[in-house]
Amino acid sequence: MDPIAEVKMYEDSGDLLPLMVGGPGPDTLQNCKEIFTKATASVLETETDPTQAFRYADEQGDQEYRDQLAKFLSNEYKDIVTSSELMVTAGATQGLHFLASLLFHKHKVAFVEDPTYYAAHTMLRYDLEMKVVPVPTDADGIDTNVLDKLLSEHRPKSFTVTPEQPFWAMIYVIPVFNNPAGQCYSKERCCDLVRHARQHDILVVAEDIYNLVYYGENIPKRLLAYDNKSHPDYMGNVVSNCTFSKILAPGLRLGWLEAPERVLCVLKKSNVSWSAGSLNHYASKLAAAALKLGLQQKHVQTVRQIYKNRMTFMCETLRKGLPPGATFTQPQGGFFVWVKLPEAVDALHLLRMAAKKYKISFLPGFCTSPSGGYKNYVRLSISFCNQATLSKGLDAFCSALRDFIPGDTE
Ligand SMILES: Cc1ncc(COP(=O)(O)O)c(C=O)c1O
Repeated sequence: MDPIAEVKMYEDSGDLLPLMVGGPGPDTLQNCKEIFTKATASVLETETDPTQAFRYADEQGDQEYRDQLAKFLSNEYKDIVTSSELMVTAGATQGLHFLASLLFHKHKVAFVEDPTYYAAHTMLRYDLEMKVVPVPTDADGIDTNVLDKLLSEHRPKSFTVTPEQPFWAMIYVIPVFNNPAGQCYSKERCCDLVRHARQHDILVVAEDIYNLVYYGENIPKRLLAYDNKSHPDYMGNVVSNCTFSKILAPGLRLGWLEAPERVLCVLKKSNVSWSAGSLNHYASKLAAAALKLGLQQKHVQTVRQIYKNRMTFMCETLRKGLPPGATFTQPQGGFFVWVKLPEAVDALHLLRMAAKKYKISFLPGFCTSPSGGYKNYVRLSISFCNQATLSKGLDAFCSALRDFIPGDTE
C-alpha cells in the first residue's frame, strides 16, 4: 500500500486512540453548542434584515465579519489589523488553494519548509502540480542561506512583475508554533525571509494557524508584521492565512486571509469570486455574531488554558516515559510535540506495530517531509484527546517505543 494512504487509514480508524489528529476534540468543542445557539439567534432574530445572511456576499466577504475580526485580531495580536486587508476563506486549506491556484500556475515553484504541514506540500505538488522545492529548517526556522541559493537557481531568466502576476514563486511557511516541529521563527529569520521575498519577487504564504494558542506571556509576532508598510522597500510580499478551525470549530469551515492590496486585487477579480462572492457567508455571519457577543474571545481564553495544561502534561509524561535516545523540545504554543527517535527507527514501522499491539495512532515524520526525510520522527498531538485519554495514549506510546527500539527496526 502507498505509505501515505496507509497513514490515512490509521488516521481514519475509529479503533485507535488518536495521538495523530490535529483538530479540537469533543471536550473543547462542547462549548460550541452554546456559542452557535446564541450566535444563530443573534443573526436571525436581532439583525434588522436577517435575509442578508442567506444572500451571496461581496467578493471580499461580509463587512461586519471583517470589522469584528479586525477588532478581535488587533486586540489579540497587539497590532493594527484593518478590515480592508481581510478576506473571507473557507478555512486555511481553501485559503492556500485559492492563493496558489490564482497567483501561480502549474509547474510554478513553491519553496516549502522541510518539515511542514503534510497536507499542504502534497496539495501543492499533487493537486496543483506545482514544482515543490524543499528548504531545510533549523531551530530558528527556514534556512535562509540555503533558500538564497535555491532562489537564484530557480528564478526564471526573465520575469516581469505585472498586476496579474506579481510573483514568480511562493514560499510556504508556518513561522509560529510550526506544524509539526512546534518552534517559532527567530526575529532575525523573519526579517531575512521578508528581505528575500522583496528582493526576489516572491509571495510568502505564512500559515498563522496556531498563533492564538500560545502558552507564554506574550503572543509571538506574525510574519506579516515584519513586512512593514513604512519600510522604503515595501510592496506587500506576505500573506497571513488563518482559520477558526483551531480556536472555534473546524466544522464551520471558515477562515481569513490578511493580505496586501496587490494580492487581494487578484483574488477579488477571480472568476470564483465573480461567480459566487465570498465563500461561507452564513458561517461568517455566525462568527461575526460570536465576536460581537464576546463569545469567541471568552472561548479562546478557555481553550488556550486547556491546551496549555495538556501540553505541560504531555511533555512531563514524555520526559518520564521516553526511552533513552528519544528527544523533544517543549513548544510554547500550538498542538504538536515533535519527537526525534534514534536514527535507525522508522516511525512508519513503529506506527504499524503500535496500531496493532497498543491501539494508538500518531503521525510518522516522513508524511511531513517534502524531501522524504524525517523518517525517525513522530508528531504527537495534544488537541483531540482529553487528559485522561492522553495519559493512556502516551503510556501506550512509550511502551511501544520501548518494545520497538531494541528489536528489529526493518
Ligand atoms: C498548518 C495548517 N494549515 C492548515 C490546516 C487546516 O486548516 P483548515 O481547517 O482551516 O483548513 C491545519 C490543520 O491541521 C494546519 O496545521
